[in-house]
Amino acid sequence: MRVEGAKRMAALAAMELVEDGMVIGLGTGSTTAYFIEELGRRVREGLKVRGVPTSYQAYLKAVEAGVPTTTLEEVGELDLAVDGADEVDEGLNLIKGMGAALAREKVVDSAAKTLAIVVDESKLVRRLGETKPVPVEVLPFAHSYVARRLRELGGEPRLRMAGEVKDGPVVTDNGNFVIDVRFPPIEDPERLEREIKAIPGVVEVGIFAGMADVVYVGGPGGVVKLTRR
Ligand code: 5RP
Repeated sequence: MRVEGAKRMAALAAMELVEDGMVIGLGTGSTTAYFIEELGRRVREGLKVRGVPTSYQAYLKAVEAGVPTTTLEEVGELDLAVDGADEVDEGLNLIKGMGAALAREKVVDSAAKTLAIVVDESKLVRRLGETKPVPVEVLPFAHSYVARRLRELGGEPRLRMAGEVKDGPVVTDNGNFVIDVRFPPIEDPERLEREIKAIPGVVEVGIFAGMADVVYVGGPGGVVKLTRR
């Protein structure tokens, strides 16, 4: 419960970036869900914003909260995106994708003038890869080839399985598979992002190097705001 409180505080702190008339990318996950709920509350009070969801989860949450949604086709550039993360390193590089939404998240987050990340403090690491694998979205027919290439890069790939809710692999909102890749702590996230992205069959990689403008970190002492140096 304490973690939920920290996530909620971080998500609500990001509301300071929201202005009337904005088009906002809506991230996926349990932390951004608090942001979407709060946005809905503000919309009921008269705020005029439109959201571009990064997944079916974010879309359904926006509908439930009463946040009007739109699409990238309709809006082009976004004013702001508010997203979660699985790891944040000292340079504000991110690992994302434990919710399997990394591909749409990277597109929507890239389309935004400002990317704000909301996390609880358990997500902070010195170097990416310390606690989480790197999720890689792949074309289903290419997964074994991509796994071999990921091993050549020093990773330990594992096809993500759905577990109790479905037999077989997780299938993303885009109809693809996800390979989770364990790496030793990552020295150069930008380079590894580029190398993985270059493997044929890879749709997207869950390393988001140099993308976050601001990170709101919730913890027992309140919210700390980190910005790129
Ligand atoms: C989904 C993501 C999420 O942003 C990330 O997994 C964080 O989720 P949560 O806020 O539930 O910890 O990248 O693909």
